[in-house]
Amino acid sequence: MLKKYLTREVFELLKERKTSYGSTLLDVIRSGLCNPDSHIGIYAADPEAYVVFKELFNPVIEEYHGFESSSSQPETNWGNPEELGNLDPDGAYIISTRVRCARSIEGYPFNPTMNETHYLDLEKKVSGVLESLTDDLKGQYYPLLGMSRETQDQLIEDHFLFKEGDRFLEAANSNRFWPKGRGIFFNDTKTFLVWCNEEDHLRLISMEEGGDLATIYGRLVDAVSRIEREISFSRNSRLGYLTFCPTNLGTTIRASVHIKLPRLGRDFEAFQEMARKFYLQVRGTRGEHTESEDGVYDISNQRRLGLTEFQALSEMRDGILQLIEQEKALEGTEQSP
Ligand code: ADP
Ligand code: ARG
Repeated sequence: MLKKYLTREVFELLKERKTSYGSTLLDVIRSGLCNPDSHIGIYAADPEAYVVFKELFNPVIEEYHGFESSSSQPETNWGNPEELGNLDPDGAYIISTRVRCARSIEGYPFNPTMNETHYLDLEKKVSGVLESLTDDLKGQYYPLLGMSRETQDQLIEDHFLFKEGDRFLEAANSNRFWPKGRGIFFNDTKTFLVWCNEEDHLRLISMEEGGDLATIYGRLVDAVSRIEREISFSRNSRLGYLTFCPTNLGTTIRASVHIKLPRLGRDFEAFQEMARKFYLQVRGTRGEHTESEDGVYDISNQRRLGLTEFQALSEMRDGILQLIEQEKALEGTEQSP
């Protein structure tokens, strides 16, 4: 998308602009320049970049989310989680479900502009609030600094922790001072987790085995509501919650299932096309930029901006239910004589 939208004309317009944090066009496009296989290729070096470099961000945001530059993100509306139900009550297709959202903390810049003190202050503030959570959210914060390689690898293997050394983030100057200020919080049952200072200041995650979307989403809504009583998040009336990557703006929600759809997966191109029609995105088993293993796909809502939280969840639920129906139809044709 960087290649498509950074035309000579846009380049001339933006090449000398700077945000008040001092971020330049180069800070925005460096990741895409270094990684020509990027899908998007740009990041907001700080919260002002979305405005200062809007001639580049707006068309990318429109292509990714279908959100026009004249549109505005609706007010937050979590809806009633119970209405979402269980997507696979018999446990025949869905292995696990995860819903995450991202939050940036008011008063702090984004990765490329953060200094060591920003990282450490933010970690201290966040870990204190998280460790004061009670009941089902009660848990502990584990800094990456001092965590053994073995523990990290196991947490990554179990899909709980972010990977280290993402080349897209690296090129965007976002891995500086690593592992300082980075870490993970989780509750005793590892159903509620928070990533601190990886791609975004915070990634809040609710996940568990099976397809009980109502419970999993309900837990996230409850957790975010409790945490926002203690911390102010950066929200913009047009773009919703602000994130480092334009793909995550708005609701910032990615609701995914790990699902087995062996028959649909046989023709991967057709499968992806079908998923796109339902506004879904297909990822590999170990997340973004990975391949499917043993026929397990990570399927989630593609759009996060221009719709409410509940609409994002409903779009995901409807799409997943449709895919399961299509898989069942193929099973039916194979079984009939
Ligand atoms: P995100 O942008 O949502 O953080 P990634 O694609 O980087 O997503 O994935 C982060 C981790 O979450 C990976 O280990 C991935 O396998 C895991 N994950 C995503 N969806 C699910 C799911 N439904 N069940 C279990 N693990 C999941
Ligand atoms: N910058 C990468 C690309 O353009 C990732 C984009 C979306 N993913 C993300 N984690 N923000 O392909």
